[in-house]
Amino acid sequence: MQIKVWDGATRLFHWALVIAFIFSVYSAFQDKYGIYAEIHTYAGVSVLALVAWRILWGIVGSDTSRFSHFVKGPNAIRAYLRGEGWDGVGHNPLGALSVVLMLVLLLAQAGMGLFASDGMFFDGPFARDAGSWSGDLTRWHRWTGYSLMGLAGLHVLAVLWYAGLKKIQMILPIITGSKQFSKAVAAPRLRSPILALGLALGVAFAAWYFILA
Ligand code: HEM
Ligand code: HEM
Repeated sequence: MQIKVWDGATRLFHWALVIAFIFSVYSAFQDKYGIYAEIHTYAGVSVLALVAWRILWGIVGSDTSRFSHFVKGPNAIRAYLRGEGWDGVGHNPLGALSVVLMLVLLLAQAGMGLFASDGMFFDGPFARDAGSWSGDLTRWHRWTGYSLMGLAGLHVLAVLWYAGLKKIQMILPIITGSKQFSKAVAAPRLRSPILALGLALGVAFAAWYFILA
């Protein structure tokens, strides 16, 4: 049977995040003045807004996107590693850890960027407010940036490993939303896209008003 496991908003979030992340990383390694500084700022603030939206959606959104549904303790993770206790709907208990880690680091990374400065041409919008902290935040911004690149690489390898060696298809569901099951499973409750859009407009307005305007 075919079941809708990911709502459209979560899928759109994922692929928008991938694009904004690639632009953030690409522009980070160009000479960051003029157009590349603009790209780094807009792509980075987009990451911040996307993750802020995802956190709200993790509280009020669809079952498979909710933290309370997919974040599990060590017992559930051990059971999953023994091949028990996960019905295949949504994130598995181990993958959930890397999802939370990525979201926390992405939020920290884009947040610290706002206070970072290269000391020459390119300042985050609040670098002056950070005073003597700006130097430390810039260093952490750099190191968290490198860590996130590694983590994103591992994430993609893990997804390919599941597809290739374990024959568990994850990529098609995060594109189409639907997944094929050989036995009966309960379909998750998916929340209204209008609610997702309302939250997205609120977050986009806040990002523009408080950061970019
Ligand atoms: C082409 C590259 C990528 C592919 C094929 C891919 C694939 C996937 C898949 C299949 C899932 C769902 C996993 C599951 O079923 O449990 C997922 C989730 C996720 N991915 Fe990626 N991913 C890619 C790049 C990235 C990048 C660059 C980032 C960020 C740095 C990222 C961050 C995330 C996050 C945060 C989730 C959790 C989604 C949610 O619950 O909202 N991904 N990805
Ligand atoms: C997730 C989003 C982001 C990623 C992945 C990222 C990544 C990076 C990386 C890897 C560097 C260091 C490049 C190098 O070693 O030369 C860097 C530098 C910098 N970023 Fe970001 N960044 C992000 C968001 C932001 C945001 C929102 C701002 C604020 C406008 C920002 C402002 C800066 C500044 C001012 C620097 C220069 C600091 C230096 O001298 O290294 N970044 N970023």
